[in-house]
Amino acid sequence: MSFHSKVNYLRISVTDRCNLACCYCVPKDQLPLLTHRDIARYEEILRIIQISCRLGITKVRITGGEPLVRRGIVDFIETVAKLEEIQDLSITTNGVLLQKNAHALKAAGLNRINISLDTLKPERFQQITGKDLFNQVWKGIMEVTAQGFSPIKLNTVIMKGTNDDEIDALAGLTLEYPFHIRFIEYMPMGNAAMDLGQQVLIPEIRNTIEHTFGPLQPVERDLNDGPARRFKIPGAKGEIGFISPVSSHFCHECNRLRLTSSGAIRPCLLNNLEYDILTPLRAGATDDELSSIIKKGIRNKPGSHNLGTDNFTRIDSQMFSIGG
Ligand code: GTP
Ligand code: 5AD
Repeated sequence: MSFHSKVNYLRISVTDRCNLACCYCVPKDQLPLLTHRDIARYEEILRIIQISCRLGITKVRITGGEPLVRRGIVDFIETVAKLEEIQDLSITTNGVLLQKNAHALKAAGLNRINISLDTLKPERFQQITGKDLFNQVWKGIMEVTAQGFSPIKLNTVIMKGTNDDEIDALAGLTLEYPFHIRFIEYMPMGNAAMDLGQQVLIPEIRNTIEHTFGPLQPVERDLNDGPARRFKIPGAKGEIGFISPVSSHFCHECNRLRLTSSGAIRPCLLNNLEYDILTPLRAGATDDELSSIIKKGIRNKPGSHNLGTDNFTRIDSQMFSIGG
């Protein structure tokens, strides 16, 4: 099997807009957002998904910005869920609009939900995200749990001096709830407001957890797994995941391709290389022509990135327009 034949996971950013402004994602001074015209319409995204499916995509994740702020998103999810080739359809959200949408998302056929949650303290939530919405997000998490979504994955970026005193509290949530808490190393991208000096690496996070809860038990990986290394506190209901783009690269097993909110195929999160697919699509390109752009993206997936190495070069693109 060649390196490229294993790409089966398409991450689609449906908007660069967000109702929060998390310090690790959004710059202090908000940059101009895409205009309505520049964002791919749902029919256009659907066509790209259908062509991608013919090239081996079976797993689709909808991201943003915040995907639930885009009008019509639930209907779009329902349409994608009906595609025969899609075995796993998921969304990554900040949770603000989940309580309202949980039932409809379940009915639409969405399989899984990942939610950003960096703190369990309401005042701190406001400090990190700019909005006093912790309680609303928590209710959203409870609502998707009640709707039967499983597993529910919570994404946490640990920041020195901001939330590093909550590592144990967040890991400890898995004793009570069946959540998968994933600790993610901060990736410096674009001009996000967070300071690189606040980055905390996974070995330190793992040490903190094991110091409190004892040695973690490894959990066997599933075929459809994303980048997280999976563990459990013995006896816990949930899991702990470690996502380490800085301290332990996972490029050799990368199965992902991205469609950015501006309509470009992006082979790697941490490399500025992109192939515009929206312009040719709008200019009347055939399925074969669009397929060759997607294939070019797959073929040109970089074998590695340089985050965390001495050769690190800044990544210009903004996280909120790629969707993580
Ligand atoms: P699952 O399939 O549920 O495991 O999803 P996921 O972990 O791929 O998706 P999610 O959107 O929850 O992303 C979690 C974190 O992993 C985010 O910080 C992403 O930016 C990061 N991530 C996802 N894919 C990649 C990747 O290809 N490279 C890097 N460096 N980080 C990634
Ligand atoms: N570094 C690491 N993770 C990030 N996320 C957003 N920005 C960054 C960053 N700069 C995470 C959030 C979100 C997921 C899609 O990406 O936790 O849940």
